[in-house]
Amino acid sequence: MEKDSLLQNNIATLIELIRERGLPKHVAIIMDGNGRWASKRDLPRTAGHQAGVQTAERIIRFAGRELGLRHLTLYAFSTENWARPATEINFIMDLLDKFITEKLAEFEREGVRVIVSGDPTPLPNNLQQRVRDAIEQTAKNSRLVLNIALNYGARQEIVRACRMIAERVASGEVDSAKIDEQTIASSLYTAQIPDPDLIIRTSGEMRLSNFLLWQAAYTELHFTDTLWPDFGPDELVRAIAQYQDRERRYGAVKEAE
Ligand code: IPE
Ligand code: IPE
Ligand code: MG
Repeated sequence: MEKDSLLQNNIATLIELIRERGLPKHVAIIMDGNGRWASKRDLPRTAGHQAGVQTAERIIRFAGRELGLRHLTLYAFSTENWARPATEINFIMDLLDKFITEKLAEFEREGVRVIVSGDPTPLPNNLQQRVRDAIEQTAKNSRLVLNIALNYGARQEIVRACRMIAERVASGEVDSAKIDEQTIASSLYTAQIPDPDLIIRTSGEMRLSNFLLWQAAYTELHFTDTLWPDFGPDELVRAIAQYQDRERRYGAVKEAE
């Protein structure tokens, strides 16, 4: 089916179609544009984060229940976001705490397994506890793995992996000559999940902002001008449909016709 006719299909048909064509194993989203969404409405930036959480809830529910996606990563807070005003940071931390607290029952019910990528230690104690509880209480779920990138930075993640490997070399557990890509991949926060097939970034910015730099070596990228609070399931479905039309070559050449 041609791309144009594909995009003209209604959403239910499209969902069926993209499922038949084979869903990406892992979709990762840079949820950007909350602040601009609020500014456009003369609202404080915090109102944008509030609206953004609702979008995240909708997307998680849709991805797990309607779509049957297996892995979803959401970039919630970066290692660079500490540079924002304390009031905004505190608001986001409280929002995340509330989000996890309120959603935990639904995650358990819906088979969502929560994992977290990032360094939890600078987070407020209550949020750290919330995160630990969510990870523990959903550990046996397997329908959808929800990876929350929280105080996440890809460079920090790679530095951490280097330290972990260096310690294993120092203790004699690992031979430095045998360090390979797998050694590194398995020392990242994402060790248990496949690399993202598709990264979506909202709000029109065309950069990765320190997101999954190792894992994204061959990830397909999708940029949309839509601000995160306005992003919906239909746009996710269309992004996946466009992704499925792409040819992933991994450096090889197309097979002879
Ligand atoms: C994304 O929205 C949320 C976080 C980074 C926590 P922003 O807050 O970055 O919104 P803009 O980019 O300023 O519009
Ligand atoms: C990336 O967005 C981080 C998250 C979405 C959590 P930013 O808004 O922090 O990125 P920059 O500053 O525009 O690169
Ligand atoms: Mg931003």
